[in-house]
Amino acid sequence: MRIHAVLVLFCCAFAVRAQFPRECTSADVLRSARCCPSPFGRANDPCGASLGRGQCVPVQADTRAHGPQYPHVGQDDRERWPLRFFTSACRCTGNFYGYNCGRCKHGFTGANCDTPVPVVRRNVMSLNPTERRAFINALDQAKRTIHPDLVIATRRYEEIFGNITIFENITIYNFFVWSHYYSDMLGDPTFALPYWNFGIGGNQCDICTDDLMGARSSFDENAISSNSIFSQWRVVCESVDDYDTLGTICNSTESSPIRRNPAGNVDRPMVQKLPEPQDIEACLQLITFDTPPFYSTSTDSFRNTIEGYSSPDGTYDPVVRSLHNLAHLFLNGTGGQTHLSPNDPIFVLLHTYTDAIFDEWLRRHPESQNYPLENAPIGHNRNYNMVPFWPPITNAEMFVPAPENLGYSYEATWPARPITLTEIITIAVIVALVIVAIIFVATTCAMRSRAHNSESRQHLLGEQYQRYDDHDAHSSKSQSVV
Ligand SMILES: *[C@@H]1O[C@H](CO)[C@@H](O)[C@H](O)[C@H]1NC(C)=O
Ligand SMILES: *[C@@H]1O[C@H](CO)[C@@H](O)[C@H](O)[C@H]1NC(C)=O
Ligand SMILES: *[C@@H]1O[C@H](CO)[C@@H](O)[C@H](O)[C@H]1NC(C)=O
Ligand SMILES: *[C@@H]1O[C@H](CO)[C@@H](O)[C@H](O)[C@H]1NC(C)=O
Repeated sequence: MRIHAVLVLFCCAFAVRAQFPRECTSADVLRSARCCPSPFGRANDPCGASLGRGQCVPVQADTRAHGPQYPHVGQDDRERWPLRFFTSACRCTGNFYGYNCGRCKHGFTGANCDTPVPVVRRNVMSLNPTERRAFINALDQAKRTIHPDLVIATRRYEEIFGNITIFENITIYNFFVWSHYYSDMLGDPTFALPYWNFGIGGNQCDICTDDLMGARSSFDENAISSNSIFSQWRVVCESVDDYDTLGTICNSTESSPIRRNPAGNVDRPMVQKLPEPQDIEACLQLITFDTPPFYSTSTDSFRNTIEGYSSPDGTYDPVVRSLHNLAHLFLNGTGGQTHLSPNDPIFVLLHTYTDAIFDEWLRRHPESQNYPLENAPIGHNRNYNMVPFWPPITNAEMFVPAPENLGYSYEATWPARPITLTEIITIAVIVALVIVAIIFVATTCAMRSRAHNSESRQHLLGEQYQRYDDHDAHSSKSQSVV
């Protein structure tokens, strides 16, 4: 269900694609600032309250300070999200979920949402041909299916108020891959997004084949092969300049095809290779989730390291691009540009794996999970509602291990930790001691057996060994004194 917004810092996303239930974008509802529809279209049944599904409650918004990097005070719809649009929203009870509490939480099904279903995210390379086809079809169907419930705002709030024409339909894919909606779209509650293990080193894009994310075209090294359905996809959000000059926010208009040239950035040799397995292991060992200034310049921060602004061992270095960032830049095209990257379907797999690493980190470091309460970039304080998602959900609510809390788990193996020099020395010392001990025992046994055969030499042995001898202890003792 989650794109880990904690980890996806769309730094320049001043143009937020605010997403709201279509039912809440009529002039009346916008004016009331109350988005609490009934799941069954009943009057006076906000959030399915009559069936105990949920309640319409005031939205709590974080008031703590943003990080110092934030320049747009008073102009940005993300401030105290989503209060500029709505002050009341549904809070669902039990396993009910959604903007009107009409759905089940991820990982549950049935009329009362009380039947658990296994949702397991697997390595996309381990899918068999049938599973691969099913996944590719699901992505393509999502790209073409209008989202049943949600629309996006394509203007800022001050222009929107009372003007319903500026909300637009979006497809499930463009709405940003919340896997929950894939399962609903497919009618398969066990549907799980797979992941791309990008920590394989080398300059080969292993998932860039026609049965997965599309091979390279033989006619244009920057294009996807026409045997892949993804060669027909068109990107949205391409005209960044319009957003700046016209003040419009990225809308759902589609433009040019996806560009991709894995390992093709000859100007930046550093991004021509994927992260190494030991990079993943190194970042998993970092102890602190985040460190001041909670930004892309943080050092010894797991968050900044997995994002890829630090060396994998956590040391901040402005020229380094690693892990998540490196996997993006490696694609050298649509998937490598922050505002466009979700248009390349590899985005989904890349982020599922980033999430998998995050989930493994949470599992390994249950004691050191101090998510910043304040001074994080706008939208990222612990109790801030994650922008632009609806229904409102805080970063803290998503800062939890997936298997116990979010209704899905990962099937993944993690690289073994490389052996450190200290460990090599320790092992060498232990081995040396063991060899000495063996030589000592062997020598002793040899001498003992000789002692059996030659009483004349017995006096050369120490007292301690003589005690085990069959001979008279007294005589041995007297001999040993010699
Ligand atoms: C509604 O929005 C459109 C597009 O921004 C604008 O042209 C129009 O004037 C607005 N109408 C009202 C009543 O504000
Ligand atoms: C948006 O989608 C809904 C439901 O499919 C449809 O009723 C409506 O006409 C669409 N609106 C636009 C502007 O396409
Ligand atoms: C959508 O965005 C494109 C590119 O910025 C722009 O040309 C077009 O007019 C926009 N459409 C609407 C309906 O705002
Ligand atoms: C792709 O690589 C080329 C050649 O090095 C470079 O000029 C271009 O900026 C890169 N494009 C992206 C989107 O990374």
